[in-house]
Amino acid sequence: MNIPKMKRAWYPLMPSAKLKNKPLARKLLGQPLVLARLGGQAVCFDDCCPHRHVPLSAGKIVSGRLQCGYHGWQFDASGKVCAVPGGMCACEAAAVPAHACREHGGWVWVCLAPDVPFAPPADFDAPPGFETVNAAKQMEGDFIHAIENFLDPTHTPYVHRGLLRGAGRQSMAVSQSHHAHGFSTRYRLGERQNGLINRLFDKGITINDAAFTFPGLARIDYLTPNSHEYRISAFFIPQDKGQIGLSVRVHFPKSRLPLAVKTLLFRPFIECLLVQDAAVIQRQYRHHSRYFASRPYCSTPNDLVIDHLLHLLLENAPEGVDKSGEMVLYGE
Ligand code: FES
Ligand SMILES: [Fe+2]
Repeated sequence: MNIPKMKRAWYPLMPSAKLKNKPLARKLLGQPLVLARLGGQAVCFDDCCPHRHVPLSAGKIVSGRLQCGYHGWQFDASGKVCAVPGGMCACEAAAVPAHACREHGGWVWVCLAPDVPFAPPADFDAPPGFETVNAAKQMEGDFIHAIENFLDPTHTPYVHRGLLRGAGRQSMAVSQSHHAHGFSTRYRLGERQNGLINRLFDKGITINDAAFTFPGLARIDYLTPNSHEYRISAFFIPQDKGQIGLSVRVHFPKSRLPLAVKTLLFRPFIECLLVQDAAVIQRQYRHHSRYFASRPYCSTPNDLVIDHLLHLLLENAPEGVDKSGEMVLYGE
């Protein structure tokens, strides 16, 4: 992956509500981090005490400071050492490297580069008149292929058989466009999607609009001719080799039905889809990386998103080609 480019992006690492009175460990692009709330402010440091390199995430928060669990050094919100028990040394000049950290949209965002202005992708936020449920997930897999899985419909009659697509023909008119930071693919459905989820929740969806924004935001909008029904998004976090975080958001139009009830109805289906996808992504990653890493992939024009993803996320990959035309999926 193009690590220098990816280090200059912002990532939503955890829901704000999770960051309370304990430091929490996370990884981003292979780098161990500790997140903490100090005096109400979300902060992010290298997860490494400068004294003897113990993880600060194993420490605790004391009076608005992060305290290392080994010899008790304390760090303020800027990462500076502000107390050394015993008072023998003048280590107050020491500090743990701090990273840019912001809260937005109910998430704690981090950027590993010091000088990148905070600019979350517009698609991350709820469309006007919508309300949002957030969930953090974890999976083992290849970063690029996990995003491909989220955006690509061709696996749905097999991996999500019965849930998203049942038996029968499903035709879609595809049109695609890309820009410097992402791409979108619009599917105009010839037939209504026929899985259980659609039988329960689909009020005449005719368009699925799937988009990706660098470095990891994938979202799908579900539209009828007159309305925007749902937006489902996942911000993929490149934690470490083979380890992916998912900051999942489901946006519902505001209605008389309380958000808690919508969540209760919808959540089991989303969880089930995620479990099905996570299983195949893990199997793919382990098999590829252990036995077939040197063998190239074989793609067809039906693989709509992979070349765009490679261009955006790898160094020196050629620009993706926008596709358009008729795609037909057959459920067995
Ligand atoms: S290792 Fe952290 S205070 Fe000593
Ligand atoms: Fe899927």
